[in-house]
Amino acid sequence: MNALRVAGLTVSRGAGPVIRDVGFELAPGRITALVGPNGAGKTSLLEAVSGVIPAARGSVHIGHTEITKHSRVARARLGLAHIEQGRAVFGGLTVLENLRLTARTRARVDEVLELFPELEKRRDSPAALLSGGE
Ligand SMILES: Nc1ncnc2c1ncn2[C@@H]1O[C@H](COP(=O)(O)OP(=O)(O)OP(=O)(O)O)[C@@H](O)[C@H]1O
Ligand SMILES: [Mg+2]
Repeated sequence: MNALRVAGLTVSRGAGPVIRDVGFELAPGRITALVGPNGAGKTSLLEAVSGVIPAARGSVHIGHTEITKHSRVARARLGLAHIEQGRAVFGGLTVLENLRLTARTRARVDEVLELFPELEKRRDSPAALLSGGE
């Protein structure tokens, strides 16, 4: 796993910049939370990092690779995944099918089912029937 490094990132939406000159480095193997009030620009920052929206200025690196202009798919191939807030599941597919779609390996699916036993019980249910927390 490589470090994620963001430098001088400015993101514009509509009228103008919503975040300006943001920089940070995330070390591999650590969990980091980004906290701020509504409208502060958390989602805009994450969307620019994952390539959902372009950055107006600044750079994003994974390890030594600059990905600022990479497509979302190319970023995903380098291990960068962005899970949007909300119930972003494929409702018509089963729980297991949803996990298989997003996990990179079979072992990873098993790991998730072990971590969340409720999902193991519901593996063959349509994902649309899950509660928000599930
Ligand atoms: N699609 C959009 N078009 C124009 N402006 C937007 C758009 N999405 C967000 N904004 C504006 O950008 C600013 C930052 O919004 P953003 O969604 O990044 O904040 P946030 O920190 O994720 O907020 P929340 O905690 O409510 O999710 C806000 O002023 C918001 O109104
Ligand atoms: Mg948000």
